Amino acid sequence: MEQKRVFNFRRLYASYPRSAVVATSYDGTYKSALSLVWHTPLSFSPPVYAISVAPKRFSHDVILKALTFAVHFFPYEKAELVEWIGSRSGRDIDKFAHLPHFMSPLENPIIEGAYLVLDCQYLDHRLVGDHTLIWGEIKHIYYDPQLVIEGEDGGFELGKVRPLLYVGKGKYASLDPSSLITLR
Ligand SMILES: Cc1cc2nc3c(=O)[nH]c(=O)nc-3n(C[C@H](O)[C@H](O)[C@H](O)COP(=O)(O)O)c2cc1C
Repeated sequence: MEQKRVFNFRRLYASYPRSAVVATSYDGTYKSALSLVWHTPLSFSPPVYAISVAPKRFSHDVILKALTFAVHFFPYEKAELVEWIGSRSGRDIDKFAHLPHFMSPLENPIIEGAYLVLDCQYLDHRLVGDHTLIWGEIKHIYYDPQLVIEGEDGGFELGKVRPLLYVGKGKYASLDPSSLITLR
């Protein structure tokens, strides 16, 4: 192994792939949508999900005003949509004029075509360097029963869906099903 002290974390794509999702919100005036690879669950009970959003994003202030957000998991086939949402700003265009959607009970825009959506109520946020970590409680989920399997234990598992992964530099991929091994 070689050690390096100076590196560009912004371009440390060797730590990828990461799942690419879209977070939406609505503050009563503006609807926002941005693509994210920096996102993670934080707690089972209550169910808490976190997203990391740069303050310069249009979505940042919309989410912090709305105090709600929805995290969308799109299949691999929707890579172009995720790239489109993540490469232009709501400051310049109304992305929702091009995105079929409906509003959730929390008033988050839910974009058609996702296989799983986490409808979240804001809990807290914290500035971490040049991003804001925003976390919220998952109040509802939406799922596509054609792609996601609902188990008797209340779980939801990937069915036929090919999850969307971001590799960096505009490249996307999915899982190779032949790599699947069952160890338990
Ligand atoms: C695959 C992908 C992943 C991204 N991940 C993040 C992220 O984790 N956090 C972030 O703040 N921006 C991320 N971005 C950038 C925003 O999605 C992008 O700047 C978007 O245009 C912001 O839109 P807005 O200004 O309407 O909020 C990502 C973009 C892409 C394409």
